[in-house]
Amino acid sequence: MTQRYRITLLPGDGIGPEIMAVTVDVLKKVAAQTGIAFDFQEALVGGAAIDATGSPLPADTLAMCKDSDAVLLAAIGGYKWDNLPNDSRPEKGLLNLRSGLGLFANLRPAAILPQLIDASSLKREVVEGVDIMVVRELTGGIYFGQPRGIFETETGEKRGVNTMVYSESEIDRIGRVAFETARKRRKKLCSVDKSNVLEVSQLWRDRMTQLAAAYPDVELSHMYVDNAAMQLLRAPKQFDTIVTGNLFGDILSDAAAMLTGSIGMLPSASMGANGPGLFEPVHGSAPDIAGQDKANPLAQVLSAAMMLRYGLNQPEAADQIEQAVLKVLDQGYRTGDILSEGMTLVGCKGMGEALLAVL
Ligand code: IPM
Ligand code: MG
Repeated sequence: MTQRYRITLLPGDGIGPEIMAVTVDVLKKVAAQTGIAFDFQEALVGGAAIDATGSPLPADTLAMCKDSDAVLLAAIGGYKWDNLPNDSRPEKGLLNLRSGLGLFANLRPAAILPQLIDASSLKREVVEGVDIMVVRELTGGIYFGQPRGIFETETGEKRGVNTMVYSESEIDRIGRVAFETARKRRKKLCSVDKSNVLEVSQLWRDRMTQLAAAYPDVELSHMYVDNAAMQLLRAPKQFDTIVTGNLFGDILSDAAAMLTGSIGMLPSASMGANGPGLFEPVHGSAPDIAGQDKANPLAQVLSAAMMLRYGLNQPEAADQIEQAVLKVLDQGYRTGDILSEGMTLVGCKGMGEALLAVL
């Protein structure tokens, strides 16, 4: 029997529409081969939504997302909207989408593909074999904590305020996702915090330590975030699964991404307690190359694979997509961001055609 899924597509801004177009073609082809049917519905988010409606996350976009089996997002933002106040920037659309769908767990894998070792800015012996999963808390911490704002003091001086806050239940639920994730991998979990300075991190560390009792098969370690940033560059192979709060996870996942050569390769999955997950590349909207057929669509395509694996429980279709990506890389096709000597330069569309050819 054919399994039908309703997927909300959010192409967003910049290179978003180009990489989304390639990904939809790939999904259609895989669906036809695996007995899956997709009903795609497209909605506005980010700068595109600001231009059309004045809001970075229109109410009907959120409603459509809630009413689907999974949400596939490309990228948001661009120079055009950079001078808007924080509350009406494209980024706010993404943040409201994450909190509106309750997506507290963000999985960001950073695994180096053998084909791309030479694209990394680090030495081969440092990055060969790197396979890290960053589990980032996504709906709490300093991104959402109150009070926040720019306030005027009695002297008339302005003060900017944000609050890093985590409650026990918020720490526990992301902790459980992280332990479960580590359990399916190499059973090593490193919790990253700043508990030598921050109380919020002391509570984080206490709860992670307590949770560990329920996962005796997973080895838990703790690391301060500054050291973790250094260790990621010095000896990344020591890490398997990393769990951390929203801000630290934002920073460390970019660092981890770069180990693999290009952030243009990395997908992510954001999941809640129930309801649809959101799947998006880790990279941004790259306005400098938008509309020039230069973008690397592979992170978007691999996000669709994560959607199939984690959101729709269709591992076979996910495998097909991941295998196809490896195959086109084996064939030597490269977009500009991952180009190395002797390889064939293709554009976004060309990469999509190569994928369809091997599927
Ligand atoms: C990310 C991005 C976002 C974040 C921005 C675009 C709001 O950097 O997904 O990592 O800070 O979470
Ligand atoms: Mg980021």
